[in-house]
Amino acid sequence: MTLRRWIAAGAVAVATVAALNVAPAAAGRPYDPTRQSLRDLAQRHGLHIGTAVDTKALADPADPRYRELAGSEFSTVTAENEMKWESLEPTRGSYDWGPADQLVAFAAAHHQRVRGHVLVWHNQLPTWLTDGVVDGSIGTAELRAILRDHVTAVVTHFRGRIWQWDVVNEAVSDPWDTPATLHYKGFWAEHLGPGYIADAFRWARAADPKALLFYNDYNIEAFGSGDPANDKTQFVYEMARDLRARGVPIDGIGSQGHLGTQYVNYDTFGVSAALKRFAGLGLATAFTEVDVRSQLTEGVRAGDSAEINPRLQASAANFGVLLRACLSSPHCLSFTLWGFTDRHSWVPGWFSDPPEGLATVYDENYRPKLAYQELKAELIYSGPPFVLPRVPQRPHR
Ligand code: XIL
Repeated sequence: MTLRRWIAAGAVAVATVAALNVAPAAAGRPYDPTRQSLRDLAQRHGLHIGTAVDTKALADPADPRYRELAGSEFSTVTAENEMKWESLEPTRGSYDWGPADQLVAFAAAHHQRVRGHVLVWHNQLPTWLTDGVVDGSIGTAELRAILRDHVTAVVTHFRGRIWQWDVVNEAVSDPWDTPATLHYKGFWAEHLGPGYIADAFRWARAADPKALLFYNDYNIEAFGSGDPANDKTQFVYEMARDLRARGVPIDGIGSQGHLGTQYVNYDTFGVSAALKRFAGLGLATAFTEVDVRSQLTEGVRAGDSAEINPRLQASAANFGVLLRACLSSPHCLSFTLWGFTDRHSWVPGWFSDPPEGLATVYDENYRPKLAYQELKAELIYSGPPFVLPRVPQRPHR
């Protein structure tokens, strides 16, 4: 940091501290930060706290607490499924905007921003599209036109109402795939080649000049060996650097943050270093799908606290690592949970052999878990000089 930037940062710090000192004392009661919502506490840092929303739970009159917490604890929302291709365009050329529009309206009513998820992904595609490619009735040129039309239609429909779009999701393979050397994987790379990535960002930008355009992926929380042949973070870093060098309008990297207590996971410094290196490319960052799952052993299922407690503690520690790292980088703009309650989490349905769960910050009865308190404490007890307000990202042309 140059001297000028230190002085500027110092001025911001003083202003922030001054703002904190006039924190509202509600109706004669002294200000108690532990009673504030995550979204209010995060606002001090200019950070948005988000959640993926299960729109069925949101609409369930028998489950009012879900709606209440979704609206009060978070300042950004993501549709867990409703903006995916199979949901928006289940039959060719006919769009069903209803459920996604309802979530966008919920967000507006609760003064929340929306992360758009997702424009281009190899999963949850409609069968008319995948079958058409398999049976040869959709050729390469037509497939590219279909993708362009889809990106354009969706981004245009939501124009002005989406803060961040996940333009391309999970385009890169993992070390356990074949071949083990990291490569562009999945439906789109196989049928169109990797050029679809730059195309998608350009089409999205053409349809919305203001949305922030993100590449989103998992297992990119920290750098590994530094060799793009086996280090996914390095692979994505080089992809982003290349896109930026070619003037492709990418604005950010979304790190999903699906962690598990059975793994080693990361330390705060490693995650912070990764976020800062992406920022060095002129990109914003965000955690986009954070949850920390655990194996549901027989003991856990039988309610054995000796098995449950270490998992809850490890989960809380991991949530803390990701949030602390995000706070450490002023270009990390938002921190989104992939669901906030174990009552509605994708984990048990998705990871069933062995069974996994306990991945979110509220239990099945909406009691806040250690992880929730840890996030809250992190937001309260961090600040200048090492945690500074967020730097807004300007969309690249
Ligand atoms: C998951 C949803 O949570 C599930 O409800 C659905 O059945 C499958 O997809 N990475 C992503 C998300 O980018 O879209 C996935 O969401 C979780 C992994």
